[in-house]
Amino acid sequence: MDEPARGRLTKDGIRIYETSDFAGMHKAGRLAAMILDEIAEHVEPGATTGRLDQIVTNKIETAGATSATIGYKGYQHASCISVNHVVCHGIPGSKIPKWKNDIPGRNDDTLLDGDILNIDVTVIVDGWYGDSSRMYVAGKPKPYAERLIQVTHDALMKGIEAVKPGNTFGDIGHAIQSYVEGQRMSVVRDFCGHGLGRVFHAPPNVLHYGRPGTGAVLEEGMFFTIEPMVNLGRPETRILADDWTAVTRDKTLSAQFEHSVGVTADGVEIFTRSPANRFHPTYGE
Ligand code: MF3
Ligand code: CO
Ligand code: CO
Repeated sequence: MDEPARGRLTKDGIRIYETSDFAGMHKAGRLAAMILDEIAEHVEPGATTGRLDQIVTNKIETAGATSATIGYKGYQHASCISVNHVVCHGIPGSKIPKWKNDIPGRNDDTLLDGDILNIDVTVIVDGWYGDSSRMYVAGKPKPYAERLIQVTHDALMKGIEAVKPGNTFGDIGHAIQSYVEGQRMSVVRDFCGHGLGRVFHAPPNVLHYGRPGTGAVLEEGMFFTIEPMVNLGRPETRILADDWTAVTRDKTLSAQFEHSVGVTADGVEIFTRSPANRFHPTYGE
């Protein structure tokens, strides 16, 4: 049902929310973060992505909240689970695509020792959207996989550090891209972050690459996600026949972290911060 629009729109079509709206985003973001905290203990070799999604679904229901992804453009699950060279939008319960260094014999959605995976959850609480994703490891990661996870995590944090009134979206993208490429890894261009609030996806497109000082100027009251995808190899992606699963074209590993944030008077509020300080799988925030 339609509701009266909140706040106002900038000339770039970006919604500026009221100070009182931060509380709603905080509550939604916190639930997404708690679910991502709690799923961690279930990620292990032998677990299936279908079962992990079922646990996410149950947690959203128990909290009295709604999944933003079930029914979204025909998507049928409460999470996206993207394993190894899956860049994003991996479908839980479906066969995990084979990648370059895969152990032969995988033919279902069961996690193997050393797999890395992103779990992405978006919830709606009192009409507000909380969207976050993080990396997890089944068993023991290979050193190169661990380094990819760390670089991707730090890239998101460098992007968030660029969030304050007066900076531009190009500053965010540049902070992420220059760091990642300095580590000899690549930033995916085919997917981006997005405005959110009372809706799932709204202007602007938040690019994870760019030039300083370009793009729309950040203003207090903007709500959006930053969700860089980083590849060990080349940045190009390809969508599988299921029309959802995005994989790296060169079959190298990919990682992603996502926070929902709001621009405050002097900086940023991270709505999806982990209450248990478990955002990073091995070293906390
Ligand atoms: N949560 C994803 C995002 O970060 C979107 C998932 S769309 C879905 O924007 F349909 F795949 F669920
Ligand atoms: Co998002
Ligand atoms: Co997401």
